[in-house]
Amino acid sequence: MSDYSRREFVLFMGRTVGLAAAASMLDGCVSGSKLDPLPFVAIKPSTDDELKLAAGFSYDVLMRWDQVLNPAGDKFGFNNDYLAFIPLNPRIPNEGLLWVNHEYHDPYHNGGWRKGQPRTLKQVSLERKVVGGSIVHIRRTAGSPWEFVPNSEYNRRLDAFTLIPFAGGETIYGKKTAIGTFGNCAGGITPWGTVLTCEENYMNFVGEAEFDNQGRRTIKQVDGYLSWDKHIQLPPEHYGWVVEVELKTAKAKKLTALGRFAHECATCIVAADGRTVVYSGDDAMDEHLYKFISSKPGSLDQGELYVADTINGRWLSLSHKNVPILKKTFKTPQDCLVRTREAAKLVGATPLDRPEDIEIDPRTRAVIVSCTNNKKHDRPYGALMKIEEKNADPLSMEFTASTFIAGGPTSGFACPDNLAFDPRGNLWVCTDMSVSRLHEPPYENFGNNGLFYIPLSGDHAGRAFQVASAPVGAELTGPMFAPDGTLFLSVQHPGEWQHYKDYPASHWPNGGNSEPSPCVVQIRGPALERLTAKLDY
Ligand code: FEO
Ligand code: CA
Ligand code: CA
Ligand code: CA
Repeated sequence: MSDYSRREFVLFMGRTVGLAAAASMLDGCVSGSKLDPLPFVAIKPSTDDELKLAAGFSYDVLMRWDQVLNPAGDKFGFNNDYLAFIPLNPRIPNEGLLWVNHEYHDPYHNGGWRKGQPRTLKQVSLERKVVGGSIVHIRRTAGSPWEFVPNSEYNRRLDAFTLIPFAGGETIYGKKTAIGTFGNCAGGITPWGTVLTCEENYMNFVGEAEFDNQGRRTIKQVDGYLSWDKHIQLPPEHYGWVVEVELKTAKAKKLTALGRFAHECATCIVAADGRTVVYSGDDAMDEHLYKFISSKPGSLDQGELYVADTINGRWLSLSHKNVPILKKTFKTPQDCLVRTREAAKLVGATPLDRPEDIEIDPRTRAVIVSCTNNKKHDRPYGALMKIEEKNADPLSMEFTASTFIAGGPTSGFACPDNLAFDPRGNLWVCTDMSVSRLHEPPYENFGNNGLFYIPLSGDHAGRAFQVASAPVGAELTGPMFAPDGTLFLSVQHPGEWQHYKDYPASHWPNGGNSEPSPCVVQIRGPALERLTAKLDY
């Protein structure tokens, strides 16, 4: 059986009987023949408080929370998430800028809050300093790991105080400029080398603006460990956008044309006519998958937003001008974008199981979407969904949607979230089982969150092999391959909630009785070199 047909068989069987079963059936078909060896042996699920890696992989900490970045005293933020590496000069791949999202804070670590106390304005101000994103200058010399370049002029922070204008000089809720960015979850890289950082759960920080039938606005306040709205009123309409950042200058703008919701990511592909298409998921139960088509090449300031009807395989326009129900409901095109979730429901978007990260298969142009889980519908394990645009054209208005690989006991992973394709076109998947449900049914056999390698061709196509297990309470996020094959990875929220609830404590990375710290690590080693080498092994 050719690689291609074998892969199709495994994926087809995976949909019906489960991947491991399908693969073993296939192995039975070719009994006597030898399977291609993988260059590593997958690890088993682990509950240990360490970043456990399969033999042949090793890691070094590259950046850690609170590390001083520059002479101004700016510090590396908390809960590192999405990572994007941009070479400073395309001809010098061993030196570049790393963008790091800092998704959210922890009041215990970041403002010094202690359980039972009221949170003060001073504490909230300290919390606002650790979110947003960092720009970090890194380089490596042959034979050595990547290193941070201290005090480089490029090392900068964007946080919840940074003034960021809306693209195109737009005014939103009375201002042309927003105060800060936060909830920065995943992101993307534009074809022109800027970074897109996505404001996801902004409502946990500042509440949400709600509108009645007459368009009257009220603010739904939040009460939780992330909330700032008792101390500072920031208009929710200023958040929930995709923010474009030029790393060399730290110049940023909020791209309103891509809509406002809990943006997980913003994944770009260039269409045949040079325009950029951006896919983005809204990570909440029964929310939607979106596609944006820019008006012209080289800019995302203007364009048209669409939302997916995955049942009928159609992209539904959210153009205020062209869709009568939207024109009738929202006074202006801007209102329609500010209230994207409502607009999507009006045109008939399909509710999905928390669409999170998205990557585009470099070989087939298939759009792979992580759907993490959906408690409402008792779908705890999630799945990777495949969107195949008609004629593989990102400008197409028609597509087919299918389950690519289902999470669960058969595939061995649960709750897929961040994705990356490696230089050879194979898929890497990080999992995001909620810390509050780790090790409990139905996740009792999955250990801590992990990182999985899924080859997409060859004898093991479509099977998930665990490469890494996260420390206690942590999630592995932001996988990003550097040009030299190094895998940058975020270790986010080790020991989450250990100071709030009776949850196991983490002491990663320093061990002993130390407090845990989010860090960015670099993963290298002979197994990774073989997986990412240009030549076949
Ligand atoms: Fe911030 Fe959807 O993960
Ligand atoms: Ca995420
Ligand atoms: Ca990704
Ligand atoms: Ca997630």
